[in-house]
Amino acid sequence: MSRNTASAPYFVELKETSSTNQYIKDHIENLKDVTVVYTDCQTAGRGSKGRSWMIEPGKGLALSVVFQDAPARILPTLPLVMGLSAAITLKKNGFDVSLKWPNDILLGGKKIAGLLCEGEWKGERGFVVCGIGLNLLQSAEDFQRSQLCYAGSILSQTGKHLDVDCWIKEFANQFWKDYRLLCQKGFSHFLSAYSEKCVTLGKELILLDHSKKILAKGEAIASDGRLICQTEKGTLLIHQADTLIQNNYEE
Ligand code: BTN
Repeated sequence: MSRNTASAPYFVELKETSSTNQYIKDHIENLKDVTVVYTDCQTAGRGSKGRSWMIEPGKGLALSVVFQDAPARILPTLPLVMGLSAAITLKKNGFDVSLKWPNDILLGGKKIAGLLCEGEWKGERGFVVCGIGLNLLQSAEDFQRSQLCYAGSILSQTGKHLDVDCWIKEFANQFWKDYRLLCQKGFSHFLSAYSEKCVTLGKELILLDHSKKILAKGEAIASDGRLICQTEKGTLLIHQADTLIQNNYEE
């Protein structure tokens, strides 16, 4: 482990860990506001919908940020803002990614990153841990072997490399700035920037309602982060990705 404690955000680099989100939860009393924990070897990472997110040594990045005194009301839109901060800083590095509502980052139609935000509250405030798993060097064969046909990495999608050390600093500063704006102004401040990058809008979608499939079209993002869809029965507001299957790839 190496630490840089000069000024916030603070950085903790781990040689290996089970999960950067879990590391933060286990050390929450000792981590300053705002701390970024990252590794290129994650052995038991958590993904959304109860799935796992492993990173073979050197092939990807697992990174989590902790905000120690966060308002509970921001949690539903925090992953969207985190995705936007990642997209902005990846674009600055030459990778023009798009966002699949609510938690995925796509490059050339493949998922290159996923986001998982978890919080623990005492009343209105608490700590929130925001994790991103970014695929860097995995090959198309690596993903086939793991039966992740919808996934890609920066290398497999572009043939290029990201300057990871540099990106970590850029991303941490962007996300910290965007987090403060989210607390002050709410998600409506990010609505147009998020919507511009969101490939879910205008797409034919399949929604799952208790295993019943409903055809829909992604229309807009609401100011509380929900997805507004049109169906033959009218407008639906979707809370979470569990109900959504997108036609271009299924997870
Ligand atoms: C997804 O399934 O799309 C979300 C994946 C989130 C993975 C990241 S990697 C860093 C952080 N630590 C974890 O255990 N999970 C998140």
